[in-house]
Amino acid sequence: MHPQTDQHSKVLKILQKYPPFREKMHEYLGIIEKYPPSREHMLDMLHDIQEYEPKHYLPREALLAVAEYLNIPLAEVASTVSFYSMFSLEPRGKHIIRICVSPPCQAMGGSSVLVALKDALNIDVGSTTSDGLFTLETTSCLGVCGVAPAMMIDNDVYGNLTEEKIQRIIEEIRRRDAAH
Ligand code: FES
Repeated sequence: MHPQTDQHSKVLKILQKYPPFREKMHEYLGIIEKYPPSREHMLDMLHDIQEYEPKHYLPREALLAVAEYLNIPLAEVASTVSFYSMFSLEPRGKHIIRICVSPPCQAMGGSSVLVALKDALNIDVGSTTSDGLFTLETTSCLGVCGVAPAMMIDNDVYGNLTEEKIQRIIEEIRRRDAAH
């Protein structure tokens, strides 16, 4: 029997033991079983599930599905998730803003840009706006120090930030989302 199929049947057996999670775990299994059941693909699996979730996070069922598929303890998946700041166990906003707080960006005015961002969103770092549109997070160097201070919103990089530019970017995204 192909190892993936083997793991699939094993997970299905486990699902019988967790009826409330069954449906969600089935969904996640459908996402991760394109990878061979090997630890080296754990990050890709977690990443794909987080991308799939509209609230950009990893529910408990996701961790369970990955642990069972890889045949490893749930604690091992949980510790991987907590090690990487790109993963969240809490529901997040539609757009994830990651502002760089490493020294080169700080030296170019990053602190005042962060204050402008908090003001524009009316939230603190680690929070989500009440309309569920934005989550604000900090990050270390994004690798674009040439355009410091910089941030990422979802997969897009924004550089040479100023307080005015922050206002424009946030307004533009709000407008775009309202139009859809
Ligand atoms: S230090 Fe901010 S992008 Fe490198």
